[in-house]
Amino acid sequence: MRDWPGKRLAGGINFLRGRGRRFEGALQKLDRLADFARSGDVDLVVFSGDFTAMGTRAEFATARAAIQPFVRSPAEFVCVAGNHDIYTRTVVREKRFERTFEGLLETDLPDSRVDGPWPIVRLLGDDVAVIALNSAKPNPVPWRSSGRIPAEQLDAVRRLLQRPEIGNRFVFIVTHYAPCLEDGSPDTPTHGLENVEEYLRVCADVRRGAVLCGHVHQTYRVRLPVLAPEVFCAGSATMHELEGFWLFDVRNGEITATRGRWVEDRYRLEAP
Ligand SMILES: [Fe+2]
Repeated sequence: MRDWPGKRLAGGINFLRGRGRRFEGALQKLDRLADFARSGDVDLVVFSGDFTAMGTRAEFATARAAIQPFVRSPAEFVCVAGNHDIYTRTVVREKRFERTFEGLLETDLPDSRVDGPWPIVRLLGDDVAVIALNSAKPNPVPWRSSGRIPAEQLDAVRRLLQRPEIGNRFVFIVTHYAPCLEDGSPDTPTHGLENVEEYLRVCADVRRGAVLCGHVHQTYRVRLPVLAPEVFCAGSATMHELEGFWLFDVRNGEITATRGRWVEDRYRLEAP
């Protein structure tokens, strides 16, 4: 409460008025989702952020325990911070996100880091690369929840895409904020990515790949005229009646994406 009481107060009231209830049972659902990932022999799990509501220490401790069943090894787990995780300047100063996920923010190309652990690069087998960026930042004003990818991270991605280690791999670019909504239109200035146009220009250099995001609570895929890679929004894995995720299969440079849903008491894949 010392840190922007207005922001925490507004967030707390919002949470108590109903948002919190929409996440009841989230821990049990995550357990089921981990069962699903194990049974499907998933090679790599990507979390697109918003592990917490207000970035408190207690929430981070709960989140870290909840994601442990997904961590077969750090090399097979990628996560980015959401705006709810980077809620206040105190959270940033105390490095709560970095400390919570210590050991899971490693990169296969450490010389490309320019901003704390970012960008995180994972090289999967011989044909897939994942590049994860941080787009979350504190928003002191209660009604703002916009994000921004720092310019040095975007420059680092431009360089990464030229590197032989990335080469002809299928590239997943991951950040919390959605480059567009389900109909392809931009998000609002107070909720979206502030430098989305620059981000899209960087993503346009990906010849074969996909752009992954969260933040918007719907699970959708959309093609933008300016991008070769398709955009996939995970939505929320645990929010009541909106539970969703994507399962990707990359073979011979081609991607098959299948949407997952919570049906009755477990996660299931939709028909392709
Ligand atoms: Fe978010």
